[in-house]
Amino acid sequence: MILRPHSFLRLYSSTAGNGLKILRTISEVRAWRRTALESSQDVSLVPTMGALHSGHEALVQAAKSLTDKTIVSIFVNPSQFAPTEDLDQYPRTLDSDLELLTRLGADAVFVPSVEDLYPSGIPLDQSRQVGAFVTVQGLSEQLEGQVRPQFFRGVATVVTKLLNIVEPERVLFGQKDAQQCVVVKRLVKDLHINSVVHVVPTVREASGLALSSRNAYLTEQVRQDAAVIYAGLNQGLELYRSGETNPELIINRIKDTIKTKFNDIEYVTVSDLETLQDIKGKIWPIKGALISLAVRVPNQFGDQTRLIDNILL
Ligand code: PAF
Repeated sequence: MILRPHSFLRLYSSTAGNGLKILRTISEVRAWRRTALESSQDVSLVPTMGALHSGHEALVQAAKSLTDKTIVSIFVNPSQFAPTEDLDQYPRTLDSDLELLTRLGADAVFVPSVEDLYPSGIPLDQSRQVGAFVTVQGLSEQLEGQVRPQFFRGVATVVTKLLNIVEPERVLFGQKDAQQCVVVKRLVKDLHINSVVHVVPTVREASGLALSSRNAYLTEQVRQDAAVIYAGLNQGLELYRSGETNPELIINRIKDTIKTKFNDIEYVTVSDLETLQDIKGKIWPIKGALISLAVRVPNQFGDQTRLIDNILL
């Protein structure tokens, strides 16, 4: 049986060791926020789905260096999962997450219930959903959006809710989810949300594999083989640095490298950094570009896990 975060929380008092405030409800967060405001302390928010790893650690550390107070949200957001995806299987490790946040010196953690964040309910089948949702058109349909059509609507919706609840001066995301960063920046701009978005570099294993909560699904062998993904991205970068500006040739080099270990490459794309549209013909060094990819690798459940990664040119 999978215990949902809010049922776990009944076991905890409102303060874990070292002063980490555990906030369960929206009104508790608003009261905490008001106290910070009244004492002229600015706040960073680090939104997460838990199963925290060193990538999240880097986000919390960056947040602590930016503002007086840091609040982390832990919420496995149903609306960004399709009915066929891994919502139930998604790792939930609240005990160790709270320990890590205490050790890092985060000030508060917001662990809301699904019912609180989605007062109109949230069936996974999008055609049955009612209520308010946020879409960032033009940036959500390509790349990850092609394979996960409801993903960015779910992310944009929950991030908007969290920003409305916490009203942080700053909000931090990891570069590993590059499209998510672009989508969130646009939603903050277009909806006039009064928070600055910060993007923190991807944290990697020694092999180069980007850290992800879903790496927990992999066997040790696949985890080692998956180093080939970042190696491929770096070969693309090297080719570009040696003067190659044709995206197709760069993409082919990356695919060839990855295919030495994995055949199921969903996409490798060279895109414009702002519009996320494919760059055709030539990469202009003055504009730069984003190479992003998704690869399906075998997992320990006899199924496949999608790994995503990216690099900036
Ligand atoms: O990147 C994630 O962990 C999630 O997409 C986010 C931003 C916490 C929204 O659920």
